Amino acid sequence: MAEFQTAPAGAGAGQKLLTWVDNRFPLSKLYKEHLSEYYAPKNFNIWYVFGGLATLVLVMQILTGIFLTMHYKPDAAKAFESVEYIMRDVPWGWLVRYMHSTGASAFFIVVYLHMFRGLIYGSYRKPRELVWLFGCGIFLCLMAEAFMGYLLPWGQMSYWGAQVIVNLFSAVPFIGPDLSLLIRGDFVVGDATLNRFFSFHVIAVPLVLLGLVAAHIIALHEVGSNNPDGVEIKATKDPKTGIPLDGIPFHPYFTVHDIFVATVFLFIFSAVLFFAPEGGGYFLEFNNFIEANPLKTPLHIAPVWYFTPYYSMLRATTDLMVNILAGLLALGAVLAILRGGFGAMAKIAIAIVAIAAVAALKTFDAKFWGVVIMGGAVMILFFLPWLDRSPVKSIRYRPDWHKYLYALFVIFFLVLGYLGSQPPSAAGNYVSQIGTLIYFGFFLLMPWWSRVGTFKPVPERVTFAAH
Ligand code: HEM
Repeated sequence: MAEFQTAPAGAGAGQKLLTWVDNRFPLSKLYKEHLSEYYAPKNFNIWYVFGGLATLVLVMQILTGIFLTMHYKPDAAKAFESVEYIMRDVPWGWLVRYMHSTGASAFFIVVYLHMFRGLIYGSYRKPRELVWLFGCGIFLCLMAEAFMGYLLPWGQMSYWGAQVIVNLFSAVPFIGPDLSLLIRGDFVVGDATLNRFFSFHVIAVPLVLLGLVAAHIIALHEVGSNNPDGVEIKATKDPKTGIPLDGIPFHPYFTVHDIFVATVFLFIFSAVLFFAPEGGGYFLEFNNFIEANPLKTPLHIAPVWYFTPYYSMLRATTDLMVNILAGLLALGAVLAILRGGFGAMAKIAIAIVAIAAVAALKTFDAKFWGVVIMGGAVMILFFLPWLDRSPVKSIRYRPDWHKYLYALFVIFFLVLGYLGSQPPSAAGNYVSQIGTLIYFGFFLLMPWWSRVGTFKPVPERVTFAAH
């Protein structure tokens, strides 16, 4: 046990209380480690605000969720009307409900931008791999949380969206039908599904989410933040104090930035909340204001915008796509074998793996591979720290054509998102197939392309102009 400290002579009541607490709980130590003596790079730019904003939205979702749960009824016969009751009769209920539903979209906007920052500045690279992995876990939880939350108002889109997505699990070979039955708790989406989704949405997933966010920040503060130059500030410390020369205390220098940005964010958020809470049908689909009717399928079922890029990939996986993938795989194997550099045994192994993979592709139907592609699109993010072989972290010091590649990736991700929200069409389907190939090509070929080109010299210290 650490020595008990005594408050200095003449200390006030507050100081004495703090000393009493510090002798029993590391309050001042935590405050110093994570705020006043957490040295963050002084060249942070606007991209560095989204982690703080994600924390703000997380807190908002939890608080509004608590108040919604006080009036919501997780019962298929009452859920829809209980939401209407919240909207019309509960004092300020409309505000709490719209804060929560619009907040879900705000969460994804902020988190997608936060992830994009990580991508362009190589924040997932050594030594921040765990920060990224915890982040990917958070992203998975967030998707599960949003998906299950959307069933709760028991509108037409809640019902049919869940029906479509849960049915996808039945495409898994051998265990599929039992798996989807387990998820639904019934042969169709029903009261049992609503009850289990409610329990996961209000307690199970938020608990995991909070744990992962804590782990995310602890891991980040262990290794220190990256920055737009991708320069490790811990490499250049003041010999006397041991403090990074390019680091400044997070509090007050960045807390003041974050508070300002949070205010601007709340202005924009309020504007949407008060004037377009459904986001033109993108945040809350219009069909969801009609109660779920298992006997009436809506003409066009689409998930909420943050899922649509992945939904596009699912729809794009037709027999043609599977054949293209099989062809690419075979071509890749032949090129690898012809290129040399592999021993005879390795060549045989490549051939066997390629033949087995092509056979597997042709054995299961396109619906199953669609599910694999959709899941794979998220799972591949976990591997990013090891896919990127570039000699520099930040996009600033990469060859210019790398930037065009990132732009192409983003454009197609947005196009996939748009197409996923639209009814299927032949032209849309071809574009989605190209988008899917570009998405996976970007990641799978990264070990190769990320090393190619002329890289700019990385400075020893961060670049910073006082403002
Ligand atoms: C609830 C969601 C999340 C919260 C509350 C959160 C919170 C934070 C905070 C407060 C920071 C430090 C400030 C900053 O750099 O912006 C941070 C950094 C970071 N986050 Fe997140 N995060 C979330 C989701 C994610 C996701 C989904 C990923 C990636 C898959 C991710 C990857 C990172 C990385 C790589 C850093 C370090 C960035 C750097 O030092 O350059 N985070 N996060």
